Amino acid sequence: MSVHSGSEIKRVTTHTLQELKNKGEKISMLTAYDYSLAKLIDAAGIEVILVGDSASNVMAGHETTLPITLDQMIYHASAVVRAAKRALVVVDMPFGSYQGDSLEALRSAIRIMKETGGHAVKVEGGAEIADCICKIVSAGVPVMGHLGLTPQSIYKFGTYTVRAREEAEAQKLLRDAKLLQECGCFAIVLEKIPAKLAQQVAQTLQIPVIGIGAGSGVDGQVLVLHDMLGITKEFKPRFLRRYADLHTIITEAVSRYIEDVKNIDFPNEKESY
Ligand code: KIV
Repeated sequence: MSVHSGSEIKRVTTHTLQELKNKGEKISMLTAYDYSLAKLIDAAGIEVILVGDSASNVMAGHETTLPITLDQMIYHASAVVRAAKRALVVVDMPFGSYQGDSLEALRSAIRIMKETGGHAVKVEGGAEIADCICKIVSAGVPVMGHLGLTPQSIYKFGTYTVRAREEAEAQKLLRDAKLLQECGCFAIVLEKIPAKLAQQVAQTLQIPVIGIGAGSGVDGQVLVLHDMLGITKEFKPRFLRRYADLHTIITEAVSRYIEDVKNIDFPNEKESY
């Protein structure tokens, strides 16, 4: 991708993502919630950083994504934006900040854009939040949709199992995807649905479709950074590929440090003043 012109870093935009889809190049996206890791993945060349409301689980230890607040999302997103020199930064709108009415949705989106410097927001749901999406888009804020497994609705569904296996749910998902495109979404995330359906959605829509647990027939992939780095150990869904085992690396490093402190091996003379 030609985002580098000489030594100057060119920002990935929503238009860049559309160009990538048009030319058949897959889009890479990862979550980040803090400055240090966002800086690393931005420098590594990731195209989209999602400040996901999965921060509720990963950073705060909550069981679901529901408790995280708009203020907390703004805190995480501000740190990520300070780090990201190249990636497009998309910020999840947390549960309760947009579902009520479209004016409240717009106010929440504007707070995110003004207070974080992020480049776009993401919302979960289809027809039921279409008016909110239209309102936010009409104010000039780019919106990414999210269909399939939508963790903010976990208490409605009851489980984190694969969605839209049944024909009726698959048809609704396809209708919702088309509607989100009509509302002006610049991209859609599809989470944990059959690969064949995800491919059908990606082929039907003009806008990019990014998958997580949605097979390879979509326009890009997203994973939760802490899962793919192997920091989290317990979460083992079939769709997750671990690219590192940081759990072991960090545990061993901390154990060695404790041992060195106890043995008065650290600090040594060279490490002292
Ligand atoms: O919050 C999040 O991390 C997400 C991704 C799983 C897509 O929404």
